[in-house]
Amino acid sequence: MITGAGSGIGRALAQRLSRLGSPVAIADIDEAGLEKTAASLSGPVLRRVLDVRDATDQLRFAGEVRAWLPDKLAAVFNNAGVAVASSVRDAVPEDDDWLIDINFRGVVNGTRAFLPILLEQDEGVIVNTSSVFGLVGMPYQSAYCASKFAVRGFTDALRQELRGTGVRAVNVHPGGVTTNIARNARVRKDPEGLGRTKEQMAAQFEAVTLTSPDKAAEIIHRGVERGKARILVGPDAYMFDALARVAPTHYYWVIERLQARLRARQKETAG
Ligand SMILES: NC(=O)c1ccc[n+]([C@@H]2O[C@H](COP(=O)([O-])OP(=O)(O)OC[C@H]3O[C@@H](n4cnc5c(N)ncnc54)[C@H](O)[C@@H]3O)[C@@H](O)[C@H]2O)c1
Repeated sequence: MITGAGSGIGRALAQRLSRLGSPVAIADIDEAGLEKTAASLSGPVLRRVLDVRDATDQLRFAGEVRAWLPDKLAAVFNNAGVAVASSVRDAVPEDDDWLIDINFRGVVNGTRAFLPILLEQDEGVIVNTSSVFGLVGMPYQSAYCASKFAVRGFTDALRQELRGTGVRAVNVHPGGVTTNIARNARVRKDPEGLGRTKEQMAAQFEAVTLTSPDKAAEIIHRGVERGKARILVGPDAYMFDALARVAPTHYYWVIERLQARLRARQKETAG
């Protein structure tokens, strides 16, 4: 089962798992995106328009998935997520709540809805998508970082509770992946005061991404198969993780310089 399967990493995961012969239950709030994903799959697929914020509907969906599956439920990918770019000072509470309801509460809802199925089987994996922004704090990403740190804490706590059962809980920390996340973000104004449009900011984000959705899906799938508890996606994710450990209060000094270099490289290529 994969949420947020109408685009990006979720779609690539559905395509990979389906290609490898697994039936996939895919959910997304975006019906058109979901249809496009479903059309790209050749194996059995259960598609479901779902808002991950709706705990009752997640529970209903879990029942549908269980009834539909010919065999055990192998994995639950709570992957759906959104972004907001804003300074803390100018934050619009409604935008931050929207993000936290999807990125954090959506993961909690999905975990609670599907966990009983896995526990009953005494087998399976809950795979929750955090981010490298669940490892370090980044300027103008306060709500996003808070939601992704929350996913990490929630999933780590769950992992300890599951000791002694056949069920596992996994945190995924992607670095930059070339998806629609920045284009789907809520941005009221350029938080850095540079007057950039949302389109320009999305292009800058894409210029510093190092991993394709297909590659991300491969890394996540292989990590789950290998029994990892936390999966870092992309070379930048390893860098963020190392920096957070060796320079827990000064990592941004390095990240800022790296970002400036990547942006300059993008300008050179564009020019
Ligand atoms: N792209 C990156 O660089 C990156 C980095 C770290 C973490 N992530 C995380 O990876 C996950 C997947 O994001 P992506 O990059 O593929 O982005 P994406 O925008 O391409 O896909 C996200 C999908 O989630 C769906 N979605 C949004 N709100 C929803 C809701 N309320 N209910 C159900 N579905 C909803 C969207 O419709 C979309 O199809 C997210 O949790 C994101 O935070 C992405």
